[in-house]
Amino acid sequence: MALRSLSKMDHLLLGVDKGLRAIVPRSNPSTRPLPVSNDTIPELNITEARHVAGLMRINHTGEVCAQGLYHGQAFSAKDHDVKQAMHQSAQEEVDHLVWCETRLAELGSHPSIFTPLWYVMSFGLGAVAGAISNEFSLGFVAETEAQVSEHLQDHIGQLPVQDTRSKEILAQMDIEELHHRQVALDNGGAALSPSVRHTMRWMANAMKATAYHL
Ligand SMILES: [Fe+2]
Ligand SMILES: [Fe+2]
Repeated sequence: MALRSLSKMDHLLLGVDKGLRAIVPRSNPSTRPLPVSNDTIPELNITEARHVAGLMRINHTGEVCAQGLYHGQAFSAKDHDVKQAMHQSAQEEVDHLVWCETRLAELGSHPSIFTPLWYVMSFGLGAVAGAISNEFSLGFVAETEAQVSEHLQDHIGQLPVQDTRSKEILAQMDIEELHHRQVALDNGGAALSPSVRHTMRWMANAMKATAYHL
């Protein structure tokens, strides 16, 4: 059924369903398997496992935020094509969410306890960005993906050498985040002002500091 033919109530229920799937663990069947070359679970000591779990919890939270941002932008976008593109991007990001969730479970850990809060805050930010203009909204996506790529590369450098499993997952996510960035730029994403970029970076750092532990 085409989205255009859905009623407002249908859209509302679909939105609630997507929001709940972003915040409730194991509610998304992944469309792609973990991007790993074998099924061996690396052996980590307690300190290493805790550190990797902290990093993966940050990355899982980043994916929850990506869901919130894309859903918020789709909610307020004025242009039907942009709305569809944001829904499509959110769907593509679901695999990343599931991969991080899976690795966290393998490490005997859990997503951030503030997951619902991260989602709601990101949805609000996305809705504001979407309401400003298509160019700003796409520029916001491009900048977000660039910052996500930076922290993925930082995390890859922090992983214990034997944890090739986490490394392969994060490396595949990084490739795809950079692709999302390029698509947003190709579709007209505008360069954001330094003050907006710094504010985004500050918020991302606050999220990372919290999600690592909680
Ligand atoms: Fe992602
Ligand atoms: Fe992405």
